[in-house]
Amino acid sequence: MDGTIIARVLHILGVVLWIGGVAFVTMVLLPAVKRVGEPAERVRFFERMEAGFARQARMTTLITGVSGFYLVYKFEAWGRFAEARYWWMHAMVLLWAVFTLMLFVLEPLWLHRWFQARAQRDPAGTLAIIVRLHWVLLVVSVVTVAGAVAGSHGGSFGR
Ligand code: HEM
Repeated sequence: MDGTIIARVLHILGVVLWIGGVAFVTMVLLPAVKRVGEPAERVRFFERMEAGFARQARMTTLITGVSGFYLVYKFEAWGRFAEARYWWMHAMVLLWAVFTLMLFVLEPLWLHRWFQARAQRDPAGTLAIIVRLHWVLLVVSVVTVAGAVAGSHGGSFGR
């Protein structure tokens, strides 16, 4: 099988597992967490549950990023980044960079401890921030996927 086809398959498998996980956490796990005991208990429960997803997300962001850059290289598509009509290419890389920064740098070094300290002072407010952050990431992800699918197949989103 052609290298670009394998890369495309890996790219989409990465996206499905990763963004599917974000959708599950946002639309199923977080609403369920709201029904658990006290606010402080809710944050602890959520953190335990999401730790498993963070491990999976590190792997899927890596697969998506490597396969994505391989496709840009094979298609010699670097020039697209200079054209506004390829906004979905910028959106993919930006979204990937935000998640990579969060999962590999901010979360292990700082974010986890910051959330724990904040949750001790204000558990309900901290959970509200977590919910908002997940909705923003999910909406941006869905718009990016829609733009990338349409754009990759000659669609006219934004042109
Ligand atoms: C380093 C980051 C990324 C790079 C360099 C990248 C690059 C690419 C390239 C070159 C294509 C093929 C475009 C074409 O066929 O004309 C593509 C397709 C696609 N990408 Fe990405 N991508 C990245 C991250 C993402 C992310 C984070 C998402 C999801 C939110 C995503 C979703 C998609 C989708 C849905 C397609 C369309 C595949 C199809 O319908 O055939 N990509 N990407």
